[in-house]
Amino acid sequence: MLTVSNLSVQFGKRVLFDEVNTKFQTGNCYGIIGANGAGKSTFLKIISGKQEPTSGQVHIEPGKRMSVLEQNHNAYDEYTVLEAVVMGNKELYTIKKEIDALYADYTDENAEKIGELQVKFEEMDGWNADAEAAAMLSNLGIAEDLHYSQMSDLDGKQKVRVLLAQALFGNPDILIMDEPTNDLDFETIGWLENFLANYDNCVIVVSHDRHFLDAVCTHISDIDFGKITHYSGNYTFWYESSQLAAKQRAQQNKKAEEKKKELEEFIRRFSANVAKSKQATSRKKMIEKLNVDEIKPSSRRYPAIIFKSDREAGDQILNIENLSKTLDNEILFQNVDLNLQRGDKVAVISKNSKAVTSFFQIIMEKEMANSGNYSWGVTTTQSYLPLDNSEYFQNSELNLVDWLRQYAQTEEEREEVFLRGFLGKMIFSGEEALKKSNVLSGGEKVRCMLSKMMMKRANILLLDEPTNHLDLESIQSLNNSLINFNGTILFSTHDHEFAQTVANRIIELTPSGIIDRHSTFDNYLQDNKTKELRTKMYQ
Ligand SMILES: Nc1ncnc2c1ncn2[C@@H]1O[C@H](COP(=O)(O)OP(=O)(O)O)[C@@H](O)[C@H]1O
Ligand SMILES: [Mg+2]
Repeated sequence: MLTVSNLSVQFGKRVLFDEVNTKFQTGNCYGIIGANGAGKSTFLKIISGKQEPTSGQVHIEPGKRMSVLEQNHNAYDEYTVLEAVVMGNKELYTIKKEIDALYADYTDENAEKIGELQVKFEEMDGWNADAEAAAMLSNLGIAEDLHYSQMSDLDGKQKVRVLLAQALFGNPDILIMDEPTNDLDFETIGWLENFLANYDNCVIVVSHDRHFLDAVCTHISDIDFGKITHYSGNYTFWYESSQLAAKQRAQQNKKAEEKKKELEEFIRRFSANVAKSKQATSRKKMIEKLNVDEIKPSSRRYPAIIFKSDREAGDQILNIENLSKTLDNEILFQNVDLNLQRGDKVAVISKNSKAVTSFFQIIMEKEMANSGNYSWGVTTTQSYLPLDNSEYFQNSELNLVDWLRQYAQTEEEREEVFLRGFLGKMIFSGEEALKKSNVLSGGEKVRCMLSKMMMKRANILLLDEPTNHLDLESIQSLNNSLINFNGTILFSTHDHEFAQTVANRIIELTPSGIIDRHSTFDNYLQDNKTKELRTKMYQ
């Protein structure tokens, strides 16, 4: 379907791709992964013809149509919603425009041309285009009364969904998407997961969203060392199997046969689990073809995120009564009552992300509520990852060692050796640890903030969107560490897998009160009574 030959890409001295040869086949969905800056976006731009490689070629099978999810949310502002969707099939749209223009200037000569174009148009199922586009929009929650609105009149969230419909419109043979779930809510992501899991053509997608990758991918394509390597299976399979392979490599005394057996057993168990999962789709059959020889230990480095607390908290954790917050005349939440128990791992959600952030800021004494009160148990200690961490880095000329030293609790922790070791485990090794803290990337700042939190050894963790800016390795490590943490956690996240695997309690903050359920995240989203209640409480 799509062949890449001898592709090299270099920016100045930095080599992103070195003589890459690879193929993408019909029926497969490739999840592209790789460290920040590895070249994932660059690769997608090159295969979609938006950027030239330094050398090498990209070849698409003749007659096949490629579609790319638009990244610029305002790119179609001057068109109507329906038109923007139909424009996803460029060839069809061009013919339609030509026919319209010829009709406007009707002559005998033009009539003949119109006839020819209409044959083509019919072959492409053009007469149904508007109806198909409308159906797609409605599936994505864009109501009919918006279909003829100007794109510029839509809000950001609506635009993202229209652009998604545009990319999917008319079943492209190759579909390319760069981090499609970033700006979507859980419901829309769920819809997209289902759509793609049952999609028969070739999909190439960059994503940091493990739930999404697991739901849609038949292959994981890893960008590392300037090459791209495809592995059969979804993300969890790639992660678990490469971890197992790495462990096996360390066990030198074990015989090759034993290792092979262990891997085969792993594949058998994994395939059985996938077969049982709700995502019963055509993609499933791919899992059956997995091959032990394909499994390679990963060279990836995972930060050592481990939260320990100095002492266990008592029975009183957090008590909240009647808490309300209004911001610029907008009610963020109202009459919130909550009694936290030790060991609660609470996902805090809301349709309004400002409500969640404000809730965290209030209970961490950074912001005032309009009314109500809260009290922390006397044995509790809190450690907080705020959504906005800029105040910790602004005007900070400190290098990372000195930055982290500010949060040391003991003499030993103040020592260079200790701090360097600590930073090394958080993947700031050697020279990296001497970088100034005000030049860090978003992901690096979060890794520093997590280090600071680990040093505090608190028994309550509060994290507002901790996975923002993090790469997959850090997300995976943080996810594992929160599953293993034996204290209490309050967190918010856009990462479905994270919410599903960490939370044992869900609270939703709405303008008319709180919904509070001891449940997993998936059960919360799927429960019909809760669904009804949610609709009511946001009215
Ligand atoms: N036009 C360009 N000129 C110079 N460097 C670039 C250009 N485009 C991207 N880069 C660099 O190439 C690297 C890969 O970028 P990108 O493909 O966006 O990474 P990813 O999507 O994997 O995070 C980054 O270090 C980026 O700064
Ligand atoms: Mg990118």
